[in-house]
Amino acid sequence: MSAQPVTFPRHWPAVGDSESGWSVNEGRLQLDGRPVDDWIAGRRTPLYLYSRHVIEAQVRRVRDILPAGCELHYALKANPHPPLVQYLRGLVDGADVASAGEMQLALAAGFAAQHIGFAGPGKQASEIDQARQAGVTVTAESMRQIEAVASAGARSVALRINAGQQMRASGMRMAGGASAFGIDSEQVGQAVALAQGLGLQVSGLHLYAGSQNLEAGQIAENIRQAADTACQVAPALGEGSLHWVNVGGGLGVPYFPGEKALELEPIAGALQQAAQQVAALGARLRIELGRYLVAEAGVYLTRIIDEKWSRGRHYLILDGGLHHHQAACGNFGQVIKRPFPIALSRSSGRPAARTPRRENHDLVGPLCTPMDSFARDLELEDAQPGDLMAIFRSGAYGASASPQAFLGHEPAGEWLV
Ligand SMILES: Cc1ncc(COP(=O)(O)O)c(C=O)c1O
Repeated sequence: MSAQPVTFPRHWPAVGDSESGWSVNEGRLQLDGRPVDDWIAGRRTPLYLYSRHVIEAQVRRVRDILPAGCELHYALKANPHPPLVQYLRGLVDGADVASAGEMQLALAAGFAAQHIGFAGPGKQASEIDQARQAGVTVTAESMRQIEAVASAGARSVALRINAGQQMRASGMRMAGGASAFGIDSEQVGQAVALAQGLGLQVSGLHLYAGSQNLEAGQIAENIRQAADTACQVAPALGEGSLHWVNVGGGLGVPYFPGEKALELEPIAGALQQAAQQVAALGARLRIELGRYLVAEAGVYLTRIIDEKWSRGRHYLILDGGLHHHQAACGNFGQVIKRPFPIALSRSSGRPAARTPRRENHDLVGPLCTPMDSFARDLELEDAQPGDLMAIFRSGAYGASASPQAFLGHEPAGEWLV
């Protein structure tokens, strides 16, 4: 029998997963034609496997819609695995970091200081000092941060602006209304005056509305609004002061049944227009993406280590769980708990059942909390201890966004192939 595309119980016939190199052959998952058990031989599960060529394909998809001169930044918070950051350094133009730790990671991966943006609502004086020493311009998110940047002896600062409008379709909204992120647009004049009074050049403007947005029209509108805001603020900055305008991103990926891959065309149009506006200010346009570049490149592999019946429900107990992948357990900002795309891979050591039964299972991890659950009532054929479960769309906000120390289990392995 030849290899088939991977399908997911209760999900769509996955768009893009054949492109990802994953397929299934006689109940066993394979990557680029090689059984997954062979790939991971000698490594322990649970393990995150990240694919270079899926990352590269996503970067290409984005590059195809970028206007000339628009910089593509990678937001390390989505996945800071050092080999992956290093790999992305060769594909993108810069990095966005949210702490001194991420900044050091970006510098160690070879990103140049002038191509690193450092945003985040709370920065310690020591972090601002490290940024100044490295030559990284800090993006201030409050009046006090502007003062702290000046006190550290920096010459320039960027300002993150909390625009007036909310991005409705975002999974996680981070601007509009009251927000811990950025300086309200109506206070930006005051912030600019403060920075200038302290001898700081305002060299960047940063607007970021929210993450995991699957509505291209909304993202396009947000980009238009960000560019308009930059045009309103720029005249106060003085000739030659502004070097870049970062209009954010928030491009989402489909995780759940019924969700569709994002259309990039409307975003392309908005970027084109924004690039012209920003060029007229003498600055470069920048977008920053995390999830969109890496989510589809990652698969979390976890083994079934036990099974049992309890009052009519069948449980499959895995060696991995919430402590490695809280997003897939529905505990990373999701309102409704729904399963990520999950596929079974029969262990290489056992033959297929003669008469395979399709049964419903609850997939749970090893932690003593009911939150540690990947799916309820998931229909699988011939699932047994020793088999692998593969959780797709796991390349972003996985290992580093999970409470790995909780209950003292081993951290997940991570491997870029
Ligand atoms: C300031 C900033 N930039 C970039 C990102 C990355 O967003 P995404 O992974 O949705 O592209 C985030 C996510 O929260 C963010 O807060």
